[in-house]
Amino acid sequence: MDKIRIKGGRPLRGKIPISGAKNAALKLMAASLLTDEVLALSNVPQLADIATMANLLGQHGVSIGLNGSNATPGHTMELRAATITNVTAPYELVRKMRASIMVLGPLVARCHAAKVSLPGGCAIGTRPVDLHIAALERMGAEITLDDGYINASAPKGLRGAEIVFPIVTVTGTENAMMAATLAKGETLIVNAAREPEVADLAHCLVAMGAEIDGIGTDRLRIVGKDRLHGASHTIIPDRIEAGTFVMAVAMTDGDVELIGARQEHIQSACDVLARAGVAVEKTGQGLRVCRSGVLRGVDVTTEPFPGFPTDLQAQMMTLMCVAEGASMITETIFENRFMHVPELARMGADITVHGSSAMVRGVPKLKGAPVMATDLRASGSLVLAGLAAEGETTLSRIYHLDRGYERLEEKLRACGAEIERIRG
Ligand code: UD1
Repeated sequence: MDKIRIKGGRPLRGKIPISGAKNAALKLMAASLLTDEVLALSNVPQLADIATMANLLGQHGVSIGLNGSNATPGHTMELRAATITNVTAPYELVRKMRASIMVLGPLVARCHAAKVSLPGGCAIGTRPVDLHIAALERMGAEITLDDGYINASAPKGLRGAEIVFPIVTVTGTENAMMAATLAKGETLIVNAAREPEVADLAHCLVAMGAEIDGIGTDRLRIVGKDRLHGASHTIIPDRIEAGTFVMAVAMTDGDVELIGARQEHIQSACDVLARAGVAVEKTGQGLRVCRSGVLRGVDVTTEPFPGFPTDLQAQMMTLMCVAEGASMITETIFENRFMHVPELARMGADITVHGSSAMVRGVPKLKGAPVMATDLRASGSLVLAGLAAEGETTLSRIYHLDRGYERLEEKLRACGAEIERIRG
């Protein structure tokens, strides 16, 4: 299995282009199931998860054309679900990626039936899909769970309903929203997720002929249509990738412009970072990051958007490992999302976990060590630790990184990092 080797201690300097958002792209690809016409997506990142979603859609009968190469970042993908040949999403594909659940809503909406394996994915807590199921049931689907599969049917089609989510769920909101675009009548989604990826999906659905009000708010009103049509859509930049690089620059005391990054997508992180001594400023092309003073420990709590994203928690914790003073990091979205802590401790970090909070006491330097990636964002945090540490760090199980960070080593190397992939 491939590994990444990093020789730490070099400040990052230069420019880093931000790729299209993985967590927007995956749902936008699934949205192609809602129409028999072509959905053309631009700025698609080249990632393992995107390939998994393409495989899954392919076996539902979607034809997919991809243009672009490494020389021209931001691929264009044309998806056409002229006829859906199969409504089953099998375990072998779904277990690789939780976001496979995104085919459930569109399949039931268009084909009035779906059989989707219960998902696997990142090992960060139990992560049920009960709220996706409850939302579709509200819209008239009959759902049973048999042999690890969700069997959904709505012989007369879905009908609009009021769906009140008891907690904020990103993919749950997206599944309900996609299903509602082809349901009979009006759907109201209350306590909807407000993440920029949800809004991006909604904008694309509107371009496909859907009627959606309240985009970007926690109340979405959708009037169902008989059919949707083709559209072209450009995917938003990846705010989690951008946030990860912000922390990397801060950790190495560098100075980098993140091309294409949008401040409004990571405002909560920028606010916390400003208190920690990291300046993030808008430029004509994106965001410039550098330290504004000494790194200081600050407290952080993860929350649904617009709060501090759970997908940046591990990276923030790594930054706090080398800040002056202490930092309390509280994870409220997922249980068991501190798997990076023992790995960071191997590099000399001083962290104590109490339930859903971690107390980080800053140390002057981390030290390179062999470490292991446990999930996607934890892997990102270990790369950051390696970039700032004294000596050499080798990161194994990097298939997690390949799921979500496009050309990571290349982007970091261009800014002066000593980082290489060891094939094995
Ligand atoms: C999405 C993101 C993920 C991010 C997360 C929170 C994608 C592909 N993934 O995941 O990167 O970390 O949002 O911002 O977009 N829950 C239930 N029942 C459900 C659904 C969710 O109890 O049916 C719980 C989850 O266990 C979790 C919380 O709700 O505690 C929020 O999860 P959710 O927003 O659904 O996360 P995902 O959409 O899976």
